[in-house]
Amino acid sequence: MSETFSADWLSLREPFDRAARSPRLAAALAEVLPTRPRLIDLGAGTGSLFRWLAPRLARPQAWTLVDADADLLDEAFLRIATWAEGQGYRVTTPGRAMLVHTPQGAWRVEALARDVATDPQRLPLREHDAVVCSALLDLVSAHWLEMLSFALDSPFAAFLSVDGRDAWLPRDADDRLIARGFARDMGRDKGFGPALGPRAPARARRLFAARGFRVLAAPSDWIIPRVGHAMLTTMVTGHATAAAAALPAFADRIDAWRERRLTQIARGRLALRIGHHDLLALPRS
Ligand SMILES: C[S@@+](CC[C@H](N)C(=O)[O-])C[C@H]1O[C@@H](n2cnc3c(N)ncnc32)[C@H](O)[C@@H]1O
Repeated sequence: MSETFSADWLSLREPFDRAARSPRLAAALAEVLPTRPRLIDLGAGTGSLFRWLAPRLARPQAWTLVDADADLLDEAFLRIATWAEGQGYRVTTPGRAMLVHTPQGAWRVEALARDVATDPQRLPLREHDAVVCSALLDLVSAHWLEMLSFALDSPFAAFLSVDGRDAWLPRDADDRLIARGFARDMGRDKGFGPALGPRAPARARRLFAARGFRVLAAPSDWIIPRVGHAMLTTMVTGHATAAAAALPAFADRIDAWRERRLTQIARGRLALRIGHHDLLALPRS
């Protein structure tokens, strides 16, 4: 059973994702792709990665958005159309695809509602010139990642995998307790087997290097400033809920931590960095 994510959460995080992903890795991917690349986006959600990466590839291109949640894919089409029209691009929908007509050529988008957890070898990876994902790798297991690496012979770009370098500012004596509970929750099975959580970036680097890929990596942290009240509140409540579920014996201390943090947010005194890493694995030709 795959983990579910709300469209509202994906909206809230999109500006932070956009500011965090590495333009250097996007440029390195763009350099190796053909003149009309086909990309497959695993766990595409509402299409946030498309909106960020397609303009950086700056050429005609075709995307397959894959997600277990068909409602998110419907939302992806709506959001891509709204975003594209906001950029001044014309949008048409021949058949089941969407075409975004840009000065750089047409961007074709298709959706595939599919649970990718079972067997990555059965995904149409080889029909594409690159496999991409964003905020997915920390959900997957070591075994799934290994299967994916064996199924791949094209570039693989994984943006925004959490790496555990979180920093709450100001610090609090119970940040470590929260981090311990949250880390335990991150390791829960999210449908792929025990999740890699913050071990995902290092594991992926080692795995793809061992498979002979050239691996590039870059930090892509969320920087959430004191004025980011909605995002800070979601992070505080999310961390506290996950930590309390993982460490029920510490429920009172975790509650008190949440209350202190919410008070700091209301007073404009809390800021947060959430550590992420981007990875680009390029096959050696
Ligand atoms: C954290 S969200 C990221 C969404 C999007 N990539 C982004 O950057 O906004 C993870 C996405 O993976 C999808 N997902 C989780 N498990 C899945 C599975 N087993 N098969 C397909 N999609 C899955 C979720 O539905 C969700 O859209």
